[in-house]
Amino acid sequence: MCVIDISPTIETRRLTLRAPGMADAPRLARLMNDYDIAKMTSRVPHPYGLSDAEDFVALCQGADPRAGRNFLLDLEDEGVVGGLGFFTPPDGRLEVGYWIGREWQGRGLATEALSGALIWAARDWRRRYVVAGHFADNPASGQVLVKAGFLYTGEVKSLPSRARGEPADTRMMVWLA
Ligand SMILES: CC(C)(COP(=O)(O)OP(=O)(O)OC[C@H]1O[C@@H](n2cnc3c(N)ncnc32)[C@H](O)[C@@H]1OP(=O)(O)O)[C@@H](O)C(=O)NCCC(=O)NCCS
Repeated sequence: MCVIDISPTIETRRLTLRAPGMADAPRLARLMNDYDIAKMTSRVPHPYGLSDAEDFVALCQGADPRAGRNFLLDLEDEGVVGGLGFFTPPDGRLEVGYWIGREWQGRGLATEALSGALIWAARDWRRRYVVAGHFADNPASGQVLVKAGFLYTGEVKSLPSRARGEPADTRMMVWLA
């Protein structure tokens, strides 16, 4: 029998990646209510309030664990500092997205979280192929993806950003286990 662990925990050097719970909603709302984060994502609205965070947690809890997983990133002694999620668009391949709260950016945490999540996805979730896209005006995210082993496919898509209210050029990348 194949048993799916629906709320795995991933440990990296400084972070614990774990499933979100309703108790996280107030902190999530505080960290995510930041236009500079929202504008670099496809789906995060701006402004981002408590009800947005609660809806997000409820969505994670009801999601099909074969199609996606969402993790919050707990930094040792500091609590939640960001998030990372795998998701499968309706007619697409498994994708990954992530964010780090403003005060913790620039410390290698996104790279550490993504690298740990990819090891887990390959080893425990048996995934062999993950895609990602970053907006062309977000080179820091491109650098995170490159450091975690993604390669540029050469494809640039115009994809929506909810916070911007308009599409943005998106550089597509792929990672193979
Ligand atoms: C992008 C983001 C996740 C990076 O998080 P982080 O923890 O600061 O990332 P890391 O410290 O692991 O790595 C950032 C890398 O980008 C580099 N970088 C930062 N600004 C850059 C810029 N303007 N141009 C090029 N590289 C840049 C850093 O130097 C670092 O690379 P290095 O370690 O080789 O020096 C964070 O800024 C964020 O949450 N942004 C908003 C949401 C977002 O963009 N999500 C991803 C959507 S695709």
